[in-house]
Amino acid sequence: MNIYLIGFMGCGKTTLGKKMAKKMNKFFFDMDAEIEKSAQLSIADIFSQYGESYFRELENKLLASIQSQNYIVSTGGGAPCFFNNLDMMNASGLTIFINLPAKTLLNRLENEKDKRPLIQNIPPDKLLFEIEDRLNKRLPFYQKAQIIFNPLQQTEEVLLDEIKKRI
Ligand code: S3P
Repeated sequence: MNIYLIGFMGCGKTTLGKKMAKKMNKFFFDMDAEIEKSAQLSIADIFSQYGESYFRELENKLLASIQSQNYIVSTGGGAPCFFNNLDMMNASGLTIFINLPAKTLLNRLENEKDKRPLIQNIPPDKLLFEIEDRLNKRLPFYQKAQIIFNPLQQTEEVLLDEIKKRI
């Protein structure tokens, strides 16, 4: 059974996923990194050369291909919001939404915009608005996760205990 980490860009899916994989002795699977490896292009180049909808198809196919694995999966921030991705994840594993407010995401994303095509060209003074707007549209998807983890109020130990109760 996979454990899927979902949430907005910059919420820490990869960092937390790597830690969890070590602690739980599972394989860490980073969807963006796998897509980059098989396309032999960066995510930013896939977007600019082939467009977002092509990227979303790659994402959907990759997700479908790992349904019967036993991985800790770091998903791309938009993955739960396209096709049947969220239903697939909820049906085949445990989904965890890493819930952070837009201002915290802004602090984390300010210096990391370049590899993220959706915010790459947003001027600094408009970035908070863009994050809030996109986050609000995505929250209805993220909130369908089976566990909602609030890193500003909960420890990772509490999250791990919660996971153990469910698997
Ligand atoms: C995206 C998030 C990115 C990556 C792509 C699109 C999104 O992943 O999949 O740039 O739609 O939010 P991270 O959440 O790891 O930044």
